[in-house]
Amino acid sequence: MNVGVLVSGTGTNLQALLDAEARGELAPAQITIVISNNPVAPALVRATAAGKPALAIDHHGMSRQAFEDLLIAGLRDVELVVLAGFMRVLTPHFLARFAGRVINTHPSLLPAFPGMDAPGQAISAGVRESGVTVHVVDQTVDGGAILAQVSVPIVAGDTPASLHARIQAEEHRLLPRIVREIAAGQIVFGPTS
Ligand code: GRF
Repeated sequence: MNVGVLVSGTGTNLQALLDAEARGELAPAQITIVISNNPVAPALVRATAAGKPALAIDHHGMSRQAFEDLLIAGLRDVELVVLAGFMRVLTPHFLARFAGRVINTHPSLLPAFPGMDAPGQAISAGVRESGVTVHVVDQTVDGGAILAQVSVPIVAGDTPASLHARIQAEEHRLLPRIVREIAAGQIVFGPTS
């Protein structure tokens, strides 16, 4: 299964996917392209270093549809789209092309704390645990069907950064596992008709 990864920033989740693939742990999935809306995303450097095609499509100065048409063109051979720190909301125009085969990773136990700074939201709320969710992307923000979650404790003295680091340690294991399981047919999702 050809996988396209969309990124905007640091790309540690992309790195986890690349490392899993290099260890033979992603098959039958293979990453065939990495696309960033941010031309200076460190994630693009990670993709190139791993020998993957890396494409920058700067969204500034173009309509959402024009941007998404370029994304769709870049992803033409892709069967599964993974959002790994991708900071653009995708519209039904894009989602219709991939018929439910778009997943995202989010640093909270959804439906709690959708949106920006989920670790900071969890600390402000005073909850005792948070975690990571891998979910299907639909037209809601962080609201699609949940595929898998792993929880982590929140401990005294945690900052948003320390909590996010604890969450990311789990996220870097969970996301490659879910991509492999989707490719292997162990997780089935997508349109039912
Ligand atoms: C991750 O924690 C992910 O859950 C969120 O954005 C962060 C991206 O980090 N959507 P990275 O770029 O993969 O390091």
